[in-house]
Amino acid sequence: MAPQSSTESADAPPPPEAVFGLLWPGKAAALAEAETPSRARCACDLAGDESLVIEGDNLDALKLLQAGHAGRIKLIYIDPPYNTGAEALYPDDFAAPRVGRRQAKGGEDRGRLHAAWLNMTYPRLILARRLLRDDGVIFISIDAAELANLILVCDEVFGEANRIEVFSWVRTTTPAALAGKTKKVVEFLLCYERQRSGQVYRGVEKPVRSANPLLNQSNPPGELVFPAGAVTTALPDGAVPAGAYGSAAYVVELLADARVEGGRFVSALRLRGRFRWRQAYLEAQLAMGVVIYIATARLIPAYAKARYGPEALPNLIDAKVGVGTNETATAELRSLLGDDFADLARRMRPKPVSLLSYLIEAVCGPDDWVLDFFAGSGVTGQAVLEGNARAALCRRFILVQSPQATGRADCSTIAEIARRRLDAVVARLGHGAGAGGPPYGLVKLEPA
Ligand SMILES: C[S@@+](CC[C@H](N)C(=O)[O-])C[C@H]1O[C@@H](n2cnc3c(N)ncnc32)[C@H](O)[C@@H]1O
Repeated sequence: MAPQSSTESADAPPPPEAVFGLLWPGKAAALAEAETPSRARCACDLAGDESLVIEGDNLDALKLLQAGHAGRIKLIYIDPPYNTGAEALYPDDFAAPRVGRRQAKGGEDRGRLHAAWLNMTYPRLILARRLLRDDGVIFISIDAAELANLILVCDEVFGEANRIEVFSWVRTTTPAALAGKTKKVVEFLLCYERQRSGQVYRGVEKPVRSANPLLNQSNPPGELVFPAGAVTTALPDGAVPAGAYGSAAYVVELLADARVEGGRFVSALRLRGRFRWRQAYLEAQLAMGVVIYIATARLIPAYAKARYGPEALPNLIDAKVGVGTNETATAELRSLLGDDFADLARRMRPKPVSLLSYLIEAVCGPDDWVLDFFAGSGVTGQAVLEGNARAALCRRFILVQSPQATGRADCSTIAEIARRRLDAVVARLGHGAGAGGPPYGLVKLEPA
């Protein structure tokens, strides 16, 4: 390390060239913005115990939520505008000059776009972090347009050491070839913990394989005694005489007569063969609920674990873990709102309920709070309501969505789309959704 010059003191701020991180025009003002009071007010109590849909700007909502919810939220999921300029029901083109897309692709204009998007995102992330519990987790959906910037700004806000993963989510199975160069199959989910801890995320359970062989030709011959009742079988009821069984490759000897009744060996089963297991291990496995199965009269035993525990999350999120795509999500929203809303559902660019359920089940306990402050059509609320109904849980959600106009007279804002979606879900779930009372409250922010 270079020696300190005599003019440097330990308290002096580091020179700009020594600071690692992302700088952009307007950053200082965006930081200050997080500390200014909300420009909106709310006529009712935001600190209660019920789920909420808040209609208003999320910067104001995040400020107003601090009083009652700081350090209370277990999971934040957000799906902000990606700043791609793509056609959507909401603005997705930050500070782009309105003189055509060609200009916006130039270097200086790209810089303006990124800076404006970061100025929107930065104070919201700072405020969001304060709402997380110490063991809270945030997932942020994003695509390649702002991925690099978002990682750097999140590293600053949440700490690089608290960055858990950059997940890839398979967003489509029918990608278009962009200018013949690439097909965009995945987008991303950044995941940070407020304070990195040893908490384990619950993925899906591995399916049970029913036929793991207990014999292995290269093992030395040995004897195993399976206790009476421990071995299930497809053999018919009756006696099974001692003798040589198995196949040319797998020799099995039954050392004492046995008996089958009702799909089970009701006598102890004494077998000799080239087993993978010794007697003590067999007994330990049986005590853990492992199932031993003999399918045919060859008496070759196989085993199946009773259950595998949930797996750690793979960093690819796709159909293999039960999560759908953009196409699934649009169809879900359309089916809840009606065919008349097909175009609106597509332009909403929603996420599938299965994605949100997957994230919620991975980290949340039975009565945790979940926050989504770019709520769009309210998919996060649907996932919480359905999860509660499925397993009689009491998780609560807070959704924030601005009253962005849709251009439709019969459903004039995106916040209204979210309300309609949640009403349709509640109607479908009946009492399961809200344990008797209203499953969520509606709140509108007003100018302060
Ligand atoms: C990508 S969409 C979210 C889609 C959502 N995940 C879903 O599945 O329906 C982003 C949403 O954030 C909303 N939004 C953007 N800026 C906002 C702000 N400042 N306050 C509140 N909502 C905002 C947009 O209107 C849009 O509905």
